[in-house]
Amino acid sequence: MTALDAGPVGALRIAPSILAADFGSLANAVAEIDEETDWLHVDVMDGHFVPNVSIGPPVVKSLRRYSTRYFDCHLMLSEPGRYLGAFADAGADGCTVHVEVGDTAALIAQARELDLRVGLAANPDTDFAAVEPFLADIDLLLLMTVFPGFGGQSFIADVMDKVRTARRVVTERSLALDIEVDGGIDERTAPIAVAAGANVLVAGSAIFNRTDPLGAARDLRAAAGGR
Ligand code: DX5
Ligand code: ZN
Repeated sequence: MTALDAGPVGALRIAPSILAADFGSLANAVAEIDEETDWLHVDVMDGHFVPNVSIGPPVVKSLRRYSTRYFDCHLMLSEPGRYLGAFADAGADGCTVHVEVGDTAALIAQARELDLRVGLAANPDTDFAAVEPFLADIDLLLLMTVFPGFGGQSFIADVMDKVRTARRVVTERSLALDIEVDGGIDERTAPIAVAAGANVLVAGSAIFNRTDPLGAARDLRAAAGGR
């Protein structure tokens, strides 16, 4: 399957996280917000890298039939290399692995080989120095604004220093790299993250836990300075 186009690098992107959606009615939940969805963020948890389990390739494959959006898969897995092929086959467009699991260069090469867009994620307490050597080889840097594992947590504002550093380095080196933030993003925190240099905003609770998810996604985009 050919990966979908992610759109212009650096442009504002709203990426609803389906982790907060009703899993019993996922296709409907995704359809409801489609108009305001740039990327669909898929949180994959293994109960090992993070203390929670969520979904895997079969759900991506099923959902693929109901959405033409770019699937941004966030692999919170201790051994992502075992599953990258399955995600590519299932219809993932981009896969993000965590730098904390190691083997980063090999994982990036493996994802490239599968024609996936490649992301590298860092937890809130992981230094920028850990991801810096890989910036020229990836398409997306995900700077977690909560400790991964659960939706509905509070935004960790201290991570904004790292976002600013990342944006400065991307600009200085003219890198074609998206900077994504994930965790506790809502109408209040989105403008803070964008001002620091993030351009992809993941939001779960702030979209799906609202009575009007489509309106919430629209409000989030407006708060972030989008149309
Ligand atoms: C956390 C996940 C996030 C999470 C965001 O482990 O990576 O994508 O679903 O949820 P909210 O927006 O509720 O913080
Ligand atoms: Zn995520």
